Amino acid sequence: PVKVTKICCIGAGYVGGPTCAVIALKCPNITVTIVDLNQARVDAWNSPDFKLPIYEPGLEDVVRQARGRNLFFSTDVDKGIEEADLIFVSVNTPTKKSGVGAGFAADLNYVELATRRIAQVATSSKIVVEKSTVPCRTAESMRTILEANSRPGCRFDILSNPEFLAEGTAITDLFAPDRVLIGSLQTEEGISACQSLSDVYANWVPKERILTVGLWSSELSKLAANAMLAQRISSINALSAICEATGANIDEVAHAIGYDTRIGPKFLKASVGFGGSCFQKDILNLVYLSESLHLPEVAAYWRQVVEMNEHQKRRFSKRVVDTMFNTITGKRIAVLGFAFKADTGDTRESAAITLIRDFQSEKAYVNVYDPQVVEDQIWADLTEAQPLVPVDQIKKQVRICSSAMEACRDAEAVVIATEWKEFLDIDWEEVYKTMNKPAFVFDGRLLVDAAKLREIGFKVVTIGRPAP
Ligand code: NAD
Ligand code: UDX
Repeated sequence: PVKVTKICCIGAGYVGGPTCAVIALKCPNITVTIVDLNQARVDAWNSPDFKLPIYEPGLEDVVRQARGRNLFFSTDVDKGIEEADLIFVSVNTPTKKSGVGAGFAADLNYVELATRRIAQVATSSKIVVEKSTVPCRTAESMRTILEANSRPGCRFDILSNPEFLAEGTAITDLFAPDRVLIGSLQTEEGISACQSLSDVYANWVPKERILTVGLWSSELSKLAANAMLAQRISSINALSAICEATGANIDEVAHAIGYDTRIGPKFLKASVGFGGSCFQKDILNLVYLSESLHLPEVAAYWRQVVEMNEHQKRRFSKRVVDTMFNTITGKRIAVLGFAFKADTGDTRESAAITLIRDFQSEKAYVNVYDPQVVEDQIWADLTEAQPLVPVDQIKKQVRICSSAMEACRDAEAVVIATEWKEFLDIDWEEVYKTMNKPAFVFDGRLLVDAAKLREIGFKVVTIGRPAP
């Protein structure tokens, strides 16, 4: 197997950045260059005071240790490709917005452009690693493109190495992954390329956690893992609706079923709905794949996981309106949290976006506070979610606040949309004094102690529990 000494990663996003920064940290003998076409993003990665383009606990520390030593960020994609012996393709693969498969299929344009660039620029053999999440058999297309465009004497071996990190815990996930998955063709060359990449991970990942499988299994495993995880959340959220109607308590139900070792306790937290750039996109991708394979029942099964999530968001907004005497027109609602989960500044598919849109269409005023999401991002998300509403109108109805306390002042209701730890430290007695009465708290994350808040005087409504 080739001993890897130079790695290039195409795509300096949420996956490429942290993943390859950790590889650089753990493999001081490998030079890692992360390239991206987005100048502003690369500048942020290179910023002298480490104002990195993404917020991720522990990331800054990793970048501080490795940047300039064996970790580099650049917009010179061609140079990165040329010098490397192993290239990660870690570009975005969003859901297609138009054309065949619109709304379901993955947009592979960025993967294809990066692949073509590799073929065009490479003057020596490369191991090309699919890091992006892609539909099953994409590696085959990449191989065809590379082989059709390569120079004589250049060999390309394609591997699939999907990433399982979750945002907010990316660094701990990368330091101690449950497993690293590498897929390759089961040919002599394929197996040898797989060994080269395994050797990179073996610098810090125990051998028994590095799984090697066939290419197609590897690609499908990524979609399968996300579909199964999202399915757990939709299942618990479906049960939360039953709890609200019957008097059962979803936390107690989750606790009770999680004790079964076959079910396990993780990922059973009822919520206002899952968000993030992966779950919905990857399930829709699986739905599209199933339909293309003429498996409509399989497609319908997975589609329901996304539909249940949409239902959960709608149900939550409706419960807010119903509880507040069937109208929130002209009322001020404080939305705490805008990121799709705690410990990230990422807002892609965040439930908060849908909730605020719903509140706005009921003509409420909204105060938003999030500890990490930048103001421009909030405006961008809200305007994208309501293409028919003029920006002025959105800005008239929404105020972005710089603390939870400021957001809650003069509000009629507080909605907890993201489970940020700092919301546990809110001085609720103080908040209560500044709010209009009756003061409502809608806990979409099972975060606060409802009994304590009720003692203060709040009317508290929690996901998965009947209204008191
Ligand atoms: P991202 O949008 O944050 O980053 C992708 C980057 O690729 C962007 O900065 C973009 O400018 C760059 N890029 C696109 N085309 C390029 C090209 N031709 N040359 C150079 N740079 C190019 O996306 P992300 O969240 O990092 O996701 C990347 C992939 O990883 C996706 O396929 C996603 O499904 C998968 N994934 C994401 C996560 C996650 O938590 N975000 C987890 C696992 C897997
Ligand atoms: C997910 C997968 O976990 C990860 O393995 C994959 O690589 C990328 O997609 P991510 O989207 O970053 O990671 O975060 P995750 O922790 O999975 O949370 C996704 C959404 O589900 C969030 O909105 C979160 O709040 C929600 N969630 C999670 C719940 O509502 N309940 C839970 O019990 C767990």
